[in-house]
Amino acid sequence: MDSLIVRGGRSLSGTVEVSGAKNAALPLMAATLLAPGQHVLRRVPRLADTHTMVRVLEALGARVRWEGPAMHIDTSTCSSVEAPYELVKTMRASVYVLGPLLARFGRARVSLPGGCAWGPRPVDLHIKGMEALGARVDIDEGYIVASATKPRDSEFGSSLRGTRYTFPISSVGATGNLLMAAVLAKGLTVIENAAIEPEITQLAQYLVAMGAIIEGVGTTRLEVEGVPELSPTEVEVIPDRIEAATYLVAGAITLGDVTVANCRPAHLGASMAALEATGARITIEGMSVHLQSSGRPHAADLTTHVYPGFPTDMQAQMMALASIATGTSTITDTIYHDRFNHAPELTRMGADIRVEANVAIVHGRDRLKGAPVMATDLRASAALVLAGLAADGETRVSRIYHLDRGYERLADKLVMLGADVERRPE
Ligand code: EPU
Repeated sequence: MDSLIVRGGRSLSGTVEVSGAKNAALPLMAATLLAPGQHVLRRVPRLADTHTMVRVLEALGARVRWEGPAMHIDTSTCSSVEAPYELVKTMRASVYVLGPLLARFGRARVSLPGGCAWGPRPVDLHIKGMEALGARVDIDEGYIVASATKPRDSEFGSSLRGTRYTFPISSVGATGNLLMAAVLAKGLTVIENAAIEPEITQLAQYLVAMGAIIEGVGTTRLEVEGVPELSPTEVEVIPDRIEAATYLVAGAITLGDVTVANCRPAHLGASMAALEATGARITIEGMSVHLQSSGRPHAADLTTHVYPGFPTDMQAQMMALASIATGTSTITDTIYHDRFNHAPELTRMGADIRVEANVAIVHGRDRLKGAPVMATDLRASAALVLAGLAADGETRVSRIYHLDRGYERLADKLVMLGADVERRPE
């Protein structure tokens, strides 16, 4: 297990390139299961999570190889429909294979993911979506066992039937799973209150490129006319909006001057607005976003919402920034009510944070002080690194395998911006 040693106090400046988005790559990788053959996914980030998804696909019989940042996936050799506990327990997003397996083979056995570092994250809506399409779903020995056996003379791979389904709450993953199953289900499926996160929009576009018929892509109402089969194709993963915004916060928290290149500014609206509210100056030029600090950040209240609202995946990083702001910020997470693992660790660095239910009240302090800290999830770990960049002295962030799940070459990229960061075996 490695640690990250961060010696704070340097102002970051320069340009950083954004990698492909983890949360887009994972469902795209699962979607390759829908069409037997050779798929090419370009700009796939090399992360622990994409490697885990490779292992899930391999467990199902697919052949996967990397060629630089391009991933070649051959799904013609798939022979198993079981995603095992050993893999799913390390990454919830493995559950994305449920819809594709069921639609292509008429059956799937996918381990239930279990708990998450910040409380329950159920998959009941994924299951309800499959049931709405006519699948029979049981829970057996910790596995979701789904079946929709292909009728004898059907050209479709399963007995799934089009349906009308309204999500009671917006869910990124459950929308993706239902969409992937519906594209190969006979008849018309109407999905209401669908998630419109850019990662789901890209998934829908990829499915259309494979031959799926989907109306309303990018809106909360998706109409899917099922087709009996799809064809493999190529896709380039969209830039990671959370990684991009994290580097913008790195610029703001070090009172620096940072350009994030090769991103989609249109996906960063809420994060840029939140940073501007703290006084940072932001300019957009083509595919780049430039942040220039105007001095110590001001306090600003923040509430997470589904896209295009402020993303929960940036809440921890903005809390690190609020820790050194002038004034008091109130940060509310409406997506995950107890995603505040970073608060007590930031407090160890001198931050003044009180958490009440799903609200954190952050009284900004002049300075933070480096400390040994540890986080239990990806974005919380990122927040601690950011706080370390601004703190006096040395911060040792341990258990950085969390960071390896979602930030490609984080230490290298920060060093290129002038940070004093070093990866060290623990
Ligand atoms: N929910 C249910 N039942 C379900 C599914 C979700 O109650 O069956 C609830 C969740 O507990 C949560 C809300 O619905 O309160 C929204 O969760 P969603 O399903 O949208 O989240 P997800 O698909 O599991 C993805 C990202 C997360 C990100 C959330 C919210 C991926 C692989 N993961 O998770 O990313 O926080 O959407 O935007 O796309 C991260 O990258 O650090 C990360 C955790």
